[in-house]
This record gives sequence, C-alpha cells and structure tokens, in this order.
Amino acid sequence: MEIPLSTASRPPTGSLRGAFPEGFMFGTATSAFQIEGATTEKESGRKPSVWDTFAKEEAGRETGGVNEEGKKFYNDLIDELKANGYASTSTQLTCYHKVYYNAILYAGIEPFVCLFHWDFPQALEDEYGGFMPHRSCHHDPPVVKDFVDYADFCFRTYGDRVKHWITICGPWSYAYSGYGVGTFAPGRGYSLSENQQLLEMSVFPASRHFSLLRLNTRSSFDLDLGDPGREPYTLPNGEVGEIGIILQQMWPIPYSQSKEDQGAAQRAKDFMLGWFMEPLIFGDYPKSMKALVGRRLPKFTPQESRMIKGTYDFIALNYYTANYSVNAPDHSHGKPHVARDSQDHETSWIHEYPEGLLDYLLYVKNKYNDPKIYIAENGIDQYDDPESPLPLWEALSDYKRVSYYNKHLSILKTAIDKYGVKVKGYFTWSLLDNFEWNSSLPPRYGHFYVDYNDNLKRYPKLSAEWFKTHLQKPLPFPPSWTRDEK
Ligand code: FCB
Repeated sequence: MEIPLSTASRPPTGSLRGAFPEGFMFGTATSAFQIEGATTEKESGRKPSVWDTFAKEEAGRETGGVNEEGKKFYNDLIDELKANGYASTSTQLTCYHKVYYNAILYAGIEPFVCLFHWDFPQALEDEYGGFMPHRSCHHDPPVVKDFVDYADFCFRTYGDRVKHWITICGPWSYAYSGYGVGTFAPGRGYSLSENQQLLEMSVFPASRHFSLLRLNTRSSFDLDLGDPGREPYTLPNGEVGEIGIILQQMWPIPYSQSKEDQGAAQRAKDFMLGWFMEPLIFGDYPKSMKALVGRRLPKFTPQESRMIKGTYDFIALNYYTANYSVNAPDHSHGKPHVARDSQDHETSWIHEYPEGLLDYLLYVKNKYNDPKIYIAENGIDQYDDPESPLPLWEALSDYKRVSYYNKHLSILKTAIDKYGVKVKGYFTWSLLDNFEWNSSLPPRYGHFYVDYNDNLKRYPKLSAEWFKTHLQKPLPFPPSWTRDEK
C-alpha cells in the first residue's frame, strides 16, 4: 500500500519524495498469511490454506497472528453487520474488506492488492492438487478456472476502490520451493518422496499453470473493462485500474569473467526471472530452459502463446540480494556451498548489494521491452534469536535497515534519472515484523517491531521514523543520490 503524501506542495529536493519524479509512489508491503493469523474458522470464518497445514506439520508453527486491537475492530464490525441482517459469512467478510479499503483510502493511502501470496486454499489442494498437472492439462485446469473466478469476484467487488491489482507474488518461489524442492507449502516435489520423477513432473507443469492463470485473469480484466454494463475497474473519478505480476531475481554475478561463469549467470536469470517473464513478453520460455529441461518443459499452444504475450500493465519486481554464479556441471542438489560476506550472522540469505538493483533494472528494461515497473519488495532482515531475544531498544535501532534503504533508493534514482528506467513506485518489505515462511529462526523485517510475547504490541523502529520524516524533509546527511553508481 502507498504511503500518503500529506501536503499538496512538492516536498524539498533533499527529501526522498522531492528526489523522485512527481507521482512516484512510496509504500510498504505485507501479505495476508504472514500477518493476519486467525487460523481457526471460529475466529474469522477463514478456512485453512496450504500454509496453515504446512507450517503446523513441518514446524509446529502458526501465522503471525492478530492482535487484540485488530480482533476488536473485526468482531465489532461483524457484530454490527449481523445486527443489520447480513447473515452469511461471505457477505460479512466482503463488507469487512470494503470497510478496510475505505479506511485506507480515507487515510490517503492507495492500496495495491496482490491476489495470491501463496496461501492457496487447502480444500482445493485436497480436491485437485492445487497447481499439480491435471487430466485437463491443456484446457483450463481447475486451478486456472477457480483463480479467474476469484479474481473476477475481487475486481467486481472492490474494483471501485482498488486501482492497482497484482495477480501473483513470486511464482518462482511458489513453484520452485512448493513444487520443486518442497521446502514451502504445499511441500511437494523433491522433499515429498525424494523421487526425482515427481520433482520433474510437478514443478514445470505447475509453472505453466501460473502463466495460463495470468493469461485468463488478464482476459477477464479486459473483458470486464470493456463491458459498459459492469465496469468494476472504473473509479468514481473515471480512472481505470491496472494489473501486473510480481517477479523476482536474486541478481547473479559471474564469479569470474570466464565464458562459462557468464553463461551460468545468464542461466540463473533465465531459470528465475525469465521462466515467468518470457512467456509474458515473448510467449515462450527462455531458450536455455527449453534446451536444458527438454521435453519435461510443457509447451504453450500457438494460440496460448500469442494470447499470453503482453498480459500486463506493469511488472513489479522484488529485489533483495545478489549471488555469485559459477558454472558447475557436476553440481547436484544439496552439495555444500558457502555463503559469506552476509550480515553479522549466518542465517540471512541477504547480501547487501545495491548495485545489483541497477543491473537488474537495466536488464529488464533492455531485454523485456522497457516495461512500467514497480519495486514491489526490497528489504533486509534482522536476526533475533527467541532463546536470547534482542533488547527492545536494540531491535528498534535498525540503522542497518536505514542504510540499506538509503543505498537502494540512491541506486534507484540513478536508474530513473540517468538511464530512464520507468520505475513508478517503491515498496519496502515490510510494514510489520511477521511470519517468515519456513524460516526456523524467525527474522524481523518490519518497520514496526512486534512483541510476540505481549499481545503482538507494535513499536515503530528507527526506519519507520526515518521514512516518515524524510519522505517530506531533507535528509540530515548529504544523500548519496549524486554518487556515480560504479
Ligand atoms: C519475499 C516474499 C515475502 C518475504 C520476503 C522476505 O520473496 O515474497 O513474503 O518472505 O521474501
């Protein structure tokens, strides 16, 4: 969601807003499963998702949870709706979300809504195996149909107040980790049975479903837009909505200048970003994937391929870190590897490398038709061992996060001003400390500290104050905007 601009006049140049083009959006992101909790139907009417099941089975953990304040708001509203004759749970939930969006809009914040951030309904996983290959593989697999229905419902119901839609966040993570190595829900693939066959069978068809789902969701979006009888995406002021997808890439840097290592870095891009980007841009998977995966990679029909091209208004990108890429022909899954030069602890996968963001943006601009871009997630974790927790004051002093953001914003500005990359907004990960998927030692990513031992009480960290102040006011030290990037 976007952070409101509280004054009408243009903020000074030395401030964050003043340094970026007019209309550039600043925001922060969260995802439902990671913060909302309410795992029982009794509590919320919400039925379990694959992550409820997976988190409990794998690690005996539950979601981030709701605090008392949030629960009270929710319960009061539901009681009021009931008192006014809104009997069904789904109507109550719909009203709740409408009120929620109203509150956000009233505060001057513009919501960006992501329809799917990995919490796939467990009931549908049980019914037809989620994104798994299906008998009707070539024509509207059930997951694609269901998703389109769901998206259509959201567009019609909330389209008068939500202008920016995202179909899926990080399909690479869900496909690779959920269906390839099984370290994420729904835990299929390699880890399920150690059966390489299953790995090979599920991950690629699953990914095809993600692409089809985009195609169809987009078609329904356009269709509804073009139908004068129902124009759910037209806002009261006549503006129409936009729709995109969140893709991700850990930026691969060739370990040496050898042709082999450069080839490895290119493959790393093809197998992460290209896997989902190229169907959208070129209507097909990257060449290297087709060559290496061979017949295990499903094909798009010529019609699908034609139709899938250009099914986006913007591309949203996640960027956290960079990695070295080495050509390793003998590499097999699970071989030891070294992660160094990280932060001051060994659990993080984030190696601070802002320059990677510029290379990433230039790569997307040049290779993929210069799309409109949002940075959907950018952030860094903070280690906090539950066995020996950080003192509150230390957790709140997240100066490393401030420095991380400062450097990335500086590079982002270079990408826009010097290279003309069409980045229109920047979102940090994350608003609150939250449930970090399969991480055994939950890291803290938030601008707000959440006290898990005291009713999820929240405290603003330095980074929250930093953004709040310097979006409008000049930064206290000379910003690095002017620095040449290399
Ligand atoms: C992103 C996920 C988000 C969070 C961050 C750390 O890839 O989308 O939910 O896990 O990583």
